[in-house]
Amino acid sequence: MTITIIGHGYVGIVAACVFADFGNTVYVIGHTPAKLEKLKNGDPLIYEPGLAEMLQKNTRAGRMIFTTEYDEALKESSIVFSCVGTPPTPGTGEADLSQVYTVAKQIGAHLDPSHFTVVSCKSTVPVGTNYEVKKIIEKELVARSDVMLSQTKHDASLVRQAQSDSWSHIFAVASCPEFLREGTGIHDTLNPDRTIIGSDSQKAIDILLELHKPLPGERVVTNIPSAELIKYASNSLLATKLSFANMISLFAEKVGADAPSVLRAVGLDNRIGTKNLDVSIGYGGACFPKDVQALTATGRSEGVDVSLLEAVEKVNVLVWKNYVAKVKRLVKVGGKLAVWGLAFKANTDDIRFAPAVKIVEQLAKDGYQIVTYDPAAMPNVKKQLGDLITYSEKQYEMIEGADALCILTEWNEFKQADLVKIKKILKNPLVIDGRNLYEVQKMKDLGFTYISTGRKG
Ligand code: UDX
Repeated sequence: MTITIIGHGYVGIVAACVFADFGNTVYVIGHTPAKLEKLKNGDPLIYEPGLAEMLQKNTRAGRMIFTTEYDEALKESSIVFSCVGTPPTPGTGEADLSQVYTVAKQIGAHLDPSHFTVVSCKSTVPVGTNYEVKKIIEKELVARSDVMLSQTKHDASLVRQAQSDSWSHIFAVASCPEFLREGTGIHDTLNPDRTIIGSDSQKAIDILLELHKPLPGERVVTNIPSAELIKYASNSLLATKLSFANMISLFAEKVGADAPSVLRAVGLDNRIGTKNLDVSIGYGGACFPKDVQALTATGRSEGVDVSLLEAVEKVNVLVWKNYVAKVKRLVKVGGKLAVWGLAFKANTDDIRFAPAVKIVEQLAKDGYQIVTYDPAAMPNVKKQLGDLITYSEKQYEMIEGADALCILTEWNEFKQADLVKIKKILKNPLVIDGRNLYEVQKMKDLGFTYISTGRKG
């Protein structure tokens, strides 16, 4: 099959590589030639384990074509996936759909009427967006119909028929949301729990089922609004689970309970499940914060009581602020803090809505000297915070003379760090761990003051 992917962020480039790896020909459309050139040369532009190898392999095999030209890609493709960003609008939290609609216009302007194309949004978009995309494409096709009829290469009767049946012989829209996590994007795409296909067109559904045939997991075929809502409901429920866990963590800190064991015991009830209950400094990333905000905004505009979602977001702020308060209780203003981890989670250089970045920014503004180390995210943090904090490539040397070691991201290389060495280098044997990487008793035995999250000690 030949398909087109528009956008080469996390969703777009991972999907492109995986579908090319199955033997499909994949056009990747972007609007910056320099970036497309890098992709062509095997640089995925994002940090994602295993992605560069997959990109290089499939580009070499001639299955991935990078272009700025819609015409070239759409004339060959039976599916077009729109994978552009839907960032939150500052102030309202609503998803900014300008890129989705610009892409829809381009698709309408370049769709090849001589064959059927499925147009599918993989980006997370609010309910109603795919129908809006359909309208935009139809409008473009209507505007082009005279030209299409005058072109001998198109079958005039086909175009006339298409006009009379609202273009359903030429294209149909479908919602096919993506559920990958950053850092495990390839694994998640290859091993989905389920594939969601929402469309009013059986033809579109059949084509999408065929493309997803090599993947395991259940197929859920539904209508477009349901497919769109499934994505928001999934991310919001996962975020709710995290805020619930973090609220229990705040509670545990007050009463001397051990939040990780409490939550594990709670999760052993099959109806709840033990996954996605690790207490932390709050959830971040490009999805949970934006999707909770967007569902809150659309729910409000539909007159739905969204106080549950408002509380989820409120707790997510309380937890990173709780971490800041802990530091302030334990280290005098002006002290030096060595910080390990800035990315919103391990295995990514992404710092969008990263609680770690909020914490270091707040502490720096409050007068602490902050020196940071992160295996991947420092260049991105530097662009955002500049000289407000300092950056070090030396994981251990940067600890020298620090009043505390603060752990904010759960990178593997921190999990089995040389604790004896850390103890020797730190001015004060204080570790404030936002990710619970170490055993409380072991840290005590080594002579640390170990302040972890939702645990005693
Ligand atoms: C999420 C969804 O998991 C994915 O299905 C969707 O497609 C995109 O959004 P992602 O943002 O990549 O994926 O990361 P995820 O691993 O879900 O973590 C999100 C945030 O929650 C991170 O800040 C992480 O540190 C935090 N988290 C996650 C916890 O604090 N505890 C956990 O148990 C799990």
